[in-house]
This record gives sequence, C-alpha cells and structure tokens, in this order.
Amino acid sequence: MALRVGVVGGGQLARMMIAPAVELGVEIRVLAEAEGMSASLAATSVGDYRDADTVLAFARDVDVVTFDHEHVPQPVLHALVDAGVAVRPGPDALHYAQDKLAMRARLDELGMPQPDWASVSDEDSLQAFLDDHGGRAVVKTPRGGYDGKGVRVVSRASDAADWLSAGAPLLVEELVEFTRELAQQVARRPSGQVVAFPVVETVQRDGVCAEVIAPAPHAGDRLTEAAARVGTEIAEGLGVTGMLAVELFETTDERILVNELAMRPHNSGHWTQDGAATSQFEQHLRAVLDLPLGDPASRAAWSVMVNILGGPASDSLDARFAAAMADHPDAKIHTYGKTPRPGRKVGHVNAVGDDLDDVAYVARSAAARFLD
Ligand SMILES: Nc1ncnc2c1ncn2[C@@H]1O[C@H](COP(=O)(O)OP(=O)(O)OP(=O)(O)O)[C@@H](O)[C@H]1O
Ligand SMILES: [Mg+2]
Repeated sequence: MALRVGVVGGGQLARMMIAPAVELGVEIRVLAEAEGMSASLAATSVGDYRDADTVLAFARDVDVVTFDHEHVPQPVLHALVDAGVAVRPGPDALHYAQDKLAMRARLDELGMPQPDWASVSDEDSLQAFLDDHGGRAVVKTPRGGYDGKGVRVVSRASDAADWLSAGAPLLVEELVEFTRELAQQVARRPSGQVVAFPVVETVQRDGVCAEVIAPAPHAGDRLTEAAARVGTEIAEGLGVTGMLAVELFETTDERILVNELAMRPHNSGHWTQDGAATSQFEQHLRAVLDLPLGDPASRAAWSVMVNILGGPASDSLDARFAAAMADHPDAKIHTYGKTPRPGRKVGHVNAVGDDLDDVAYVARSAAARFLD
C-alpha cells in the first residue's frame, strides 16, 4: 500500500506537494480550512486545525502528519503525539517556529549568530534597549507574524505602545545593517540524514518576499559553507524533521545572522521546482516519510523566482497566463488557484539558465505580465 501523508492546511505549499506526491507514488491528503482552497485538489477533509478532534480524525487515515503552516496550536500537536501519530516536524521543534522569543533564546543556547535581542514587557525596558542600540530597533510580536505584519521599526518606546498594551512580552532586536537577505534551506529525516540546498538571496518588498536568486550571487565557499553549517546545526539542534528554512541577514561586516525560521517548504525555495535536482516539496515528503533524501544541487548555473502578487484588476488571470506563456515560453509559470487580491501571493515564475541577467529578465518580465 502507498505511504500516506496528511498535510494540515490547504494553502499553496500543500498544493505544491501534490505533484511530487503523485510522482513518488505517495498518497497525499489535505485538511483544508475551507472549500475551494489552493490545495483543494487533495483536500479530503475540511475543518478547523485548532480543534483537536478534527485533526485527530484526519490523522487516523495517514502514516504521517505534516503542515502547510505553523499555526496548529501546541495542545493539538501534543494530542496527536499522545495518540501515537507521527507528527513531522514535531511539537517541540515547531515551538521555535511559532514563537520568536523562544527561538532567540534557544538559538543563543546553540551558539548561533543572531542580532542583539531582548524580551520587553514595558516601555522602560524597550527604551533601555533603544538607548543601548543607537536609538533605533526592530520590535516584533513573537507569535502569528507573517509577510512583515508584526514587525515594526521603532525609534521611541511609545511607537510600540499599542502592542505593549496587549500584555504579552515583545521581541526587540537591533536594527541590522544588512547588505542583503539570504535564506538557507535544509531537509532532515527523523533517522538523522540532513542535506543542505544552495544558499539563496531573497529580495523583500514591503515586507514580502518579491524575488529569489539561486545561488546567492558572489557566494564564495566561506559564505556557502557557513550558511549550510548554520542550517544544519539548527535542524539538528532543534530536532527538525522535514524542510527547514533559515532566513539570514548578510551584514556589512560580512557576517551572517539568523533572522527567523520556517519549518515547512518556504517561498525562498520555490526555485527548486525548476532549478534543483530535487524540489523542496519532494524533499519535504521524502524527509517526513523518512525516505532517503534527493540531491539538492542546482541543475543550472542560475535560477530566479519572482512572485506574482495581487494580480489582475482588469482582465482575468487566465488571459494574463496565456499572454505570459506566449511571450516567455522559457519561463515556468506556477499558479495557486487563488482569487487575486492586492498584495496576495497568487503564483510565481521560475526561470533557469547560464546567464543571470537573462534569467532574471525572463522571470521578471513574465511575472510583470500579471500586473497592471
Ligand atoms: N533585526 C532586523 N534588522 C533589520 N531588518 C529586519 C530585522 N528583522 C526583520 N527585518 C526586516 O523585516 C522583514 C520581515 O521580518 P521577519 O522575517 O521577522 O517577519 P515575518 O513577517 O515573520 O516574515 P515573513 O514575511 O518571512 O513571514 C525581514 O525580511 C527584514 O527585511
Ligand atoms: Mg521573514
């Protein structure tokens, strides 16, 4: 009988696991939040991932449970483990992707390079941090942030008054002077095998990932090895199973610092679908099933991924899709089956080849076909 993977969450990450599951002969089932979601092709259940009974019922018919997102509450995760379900990544690892304060404390223990940080619960302690760090800092809500929501640059403690008044501690970090942002992905199996993908450069606009270049340009052996080592040590130190993405800053003095973690396939790895020997979605399935991992190496000198955000205001996505295909037969256009809304990720374009300028041009101009 085929191995069965259950994915909690019906977003585009679950959707993009479907094709490799079919190719691997793995049965994939999705617990979607609602009808008609991105991964509805494989949605065998619709229900609330915060409800233990719903998730337990879903888990009964699969060999392993994994995730499209990190929002499943700890009590639900523990209920699965207590019921004997294989949960990958497990609750103890996921905790560090759910709570940025817990992540910072644990990464300090592991000796990972990080920005200066503190936990602050009132304006006085935030002001003290600001005074020690040149008068500017980044304040983050430890839980529930995404796409830059829950991240704020402050220069006065009162700038975070609204968040502090909610009563929970906030994470404050030094404002890192970075030359660029990078991401390191690794996959880890429960039995221990770890493989590292090439380190990539990520470009964010308005706090959202806009573009990824793989490998990161001018990444010499020292940077490549340092990033892979950080990714591997975090995966092992936290006991991550499946895909781990480590968002990094490359600083003006040529250090790398950990920004945050994601324990699932990640936007920084969409290039692997067309640019790597093994895609992050296939690798995630292999890792959570404890199957031997695939080769993470690039298949071409360069890969560029450009997100399609928002989408058409005037004509339909289908019309744009055909136009982009006609103009750029060499681009790989991926769509998520989502209704376009301003700023919403509705797809991405991958291009691969030998010349970075050409590859970036193809990916950018095909993605631009979807914008007004
Ligand atoms: N300490 C920092 N110094 C400078 N810039 C930062 C710092 N922390 C975050 N940023 C900027 O804000 C962006 C979003 O921060 P972060 O990744 O923590 O938030 P998020 O909303 O959880 O992210 P995502 O969009 O990946 O879900 C970063 O990609 C980076 O550009
Ligand atoms: Mg981030």
